[in-house]
Amino acid sequence: ESEHAEATKIKNIQTVQFGRWEVDCWYYSPYPDEYCVDHLFLCEHTLRYFRRLSTLRKHEAACELRSPPGTEIYRDMERSLCVFEVDGREHKEYCQNLCLLAKLFLDHKTLYFDVDPFYFYVLCETDEEGAHIVGYFSKEKHSPEGFNLSCILTLPPYQRKGYGKFLISLSYELSKREGKTGSPERPLSDLGRLSYRSYWGFVILSALASEEDGGLTIRELSDSTRIRVEDIVSTLQDLGLVKLWKGQHVVSISEGAIDRYVKGSGAAALLCKPSLLAWPQASGS
Ligand code: ACO
Repeated sequence: ESEHAEATKIKNIQTVQFGRWEVDCWYYSPYPDEYCVDHLFLCEHTLRYFRRLSTLRKHEAACELRSPPGTEIYRDMERSLCVFEVDGREHKEYCQNLCLLAKLFLDHKTLYFDVDPFYFYVLCETDEEGAHIVGYFSKEKHSPEGFNLSCILTLPPYQRKGYGKFLISLSYELSKREGKTGSPERPLSDLGRLSYRSYWGFVILSALASEEDGGLTIRELSDSTRIRVEDIVSTLQDLGLVKLWKGQHVVSISEGAIDRYVKGSGAAALLCKPSLLAWPQASGS
């Protein structure tokens, strides 16, 4: 019942301002009551929140951070992108602030305060002024259910540019390095489902396209992509590729169709490039 009460709470902050953006909020978020104002000001580096622009400016003048806290684990100079790994236990306040910000754009209940068991992977665009937050995903340090991503967000000004799929591809790159198969925590939002469908479809069809003799089991596909078997099967079904043949389920697709899907999308360039990922790092760094 409490989840329902939470979900139906009315939007309590109308707009948030951070960096050069002023953004309309989508949903309720449990900021402290005194900060539930029409227009909330955020420091884009610490994600601290303020009711007045003058207080934000005072904070900014004293604030020395020019990026998220934590360890930089990914840098793409050409695209001016980097990713920071932030430990929820070491940077509790930052991670709590990030969760509060994220809830403004997520309709289901998510964590806000118990951030210790999570890492947060924060994607930034960089320029001469510093690293500007674009989005993030959180990941449990230990997931008994095998989740490789808990919560994902692209901030609205950066949506629909491929960053969501970049973050998803990073989550699977981490799974590859851990030698584990993973899946996102459920439920997925509509936008989350769309993004995963698109990523899974692209990766699976790319793998089929590069397979020479056409002999590939779903288990092998899962081992090489680290996408869970169930997610592969549902993706193939969504794409209408699973056919019943002599009483068995087979995947049936023409080479032309694979080429059209994979080559036409231009999506590969926007995904995480494994060679630019420095992870895992020696502990304590
Ligand atoms: N309408 C229609 N399609 C959309 C929209 C939209 N508003 N937004 C994204 N898409 C499609 C894109 O066209 C793309 O599909 P394509 O590859 O077939 O072209 C696909 O979704 C992914 O697009 P990206 O640009 O890579 O993703 P984006 O950076 O916009 O981020 C995300 C997607 C993270 C889901 C974003 O919409 C978001 O933050 N939403 C609010 C929070 C949320 O719902 N998070 C997911 C919750 S589920 C979970 O956390 C496990």
